[in-house]
Amino acid sequence: MNRAAVICGLGGALPETLVSNADLARELDTSDEWIRSRTGIENRRVIAPGQATSDLAVAAGSRALASAGAAADDVDLVVLATSTPDHPCPATAPAVAQRLGMPGAAAFDVAAVCTGFVYALAAAAAMLTAGTVRQALVIGADTFSTILDPADRTTRAVFGDGAGAVVLRPGDPAEPGALLGFDLGSDGAGSDLITVRAGGSRQRSAGGDAPAEDHWFAMQGRAVFAEAVLSMSKSAQHLIDRIGWAGRGPDRVVAHQANLRILRAVGEQLGLSEEQITVHLDQVGNTVAASIPLALADAQNKGTLTPGQRVLLTGFGGGLTWGSTALIWPSLHLAPAPAHI
Ligand code: COA
Repeated sequence: MNRAAVICGLGGALPETLVSNADLARELDTSDEWIRSRTGIENRRVIAPGQATSDLAVAAGSRALASAGAAADDVDLVVLATSTPDHPCPATAPAVAQRLGMPGAAAFDVAAVCTGFVYALAAAAAMLTAGTVRQALVIGADTFSTILDPADRTTRAVFGDGAGAVVLRPGDPAEPGALLGFDLGSDGAGSDLITVRAGGSRQRSAGGDAPAEDHWFAMQGRAVFAEAVLSMSKSAQHLIDRIGWAGRGPDRVVAHQANLRILRAVGEQLGLSEEQITVHLDQVGNTVAASIPLALADAQNKGTLTPGQRVLLTGFGGGLTWGSTALIWPSLHLAPAPAHI
């Protein structure tokens, strides 16, 4: 079997409502200067009351299908990476598939927090190259604004809502867009660093006695920062060695958009210049599972990602989890800006 999963479509979606650093500073004890200098973030977007993760996922998925020129019934797998599903049960992917006009498609969610998109790509690529499915839609979508403590100035500054998606088709490993391999891993010893403690089987949502704050997202920022740099650098380097890119290295790295200082540190560890590191977090913050595909769409639209470049994607998130993949950037046609909902 000599098939590869090839990226042939890309799209993103963001909520209309923009929250600037100045907006946050009017509400919380923070400042534009602190947020900009500690994170590189200037704006983030948040969904409106009544909207949910699936609304963003459908908008991004539909953009990716249009970009691929794929008909909905050509796609028989939808994998949705999210840690903010519409409901704890069932998964959100089947509803997304149905709304996109593919009601018979296999559909499931992947929960690997900020690494979710890379894990979802790996799962879809494996099913596609095994011949289980014909074409796949892989979506990363999260709405962390729905789980942040309104009084937490740190997480409110960092996270934003969004969705990004790609279409995968079968192809040749030598063609642009082919995913060249994966490096995936986890370390449950760090599971306390990024959490929503309540609402699961350990601290139950119904009839449980979890304190109110355990329903909010919590993060140990300092420790997460160090782990993010280490894990993404190591994972990226493992993959570079495994796929034979060690000599020339990647032309561009699109890393999970958590913090500008993390991106710079990963670039330094990999011996890359600042220009080789894609930055999108200034406009959208950390959009969790959406961060890598949204950064790809933004870079493609700005012209900083061009066909033929050696592109490495690397992510890190709660769990702890990490993962990387790589491809030669293909020629893609996509709408000039993400959909706004
Ligand atoms: N505005 C002003 N001050 C703030 C603030 C804000 N928005 N958020 C935190 N602070 C304060 C803290 O209260 C603390 O004050 P103290 O020294 O009086 O206690 C001080 O700034 C330093 O806090 P610390 O958490 O050590 O700051 P930091 O330099 O580590 O930056 C993060 C905090 C969250 C920006 C940074 O740790 C980070 O980006 N971590 C990774 C987050 C991430 O990527 N998460 C997702 C992983 S996938």
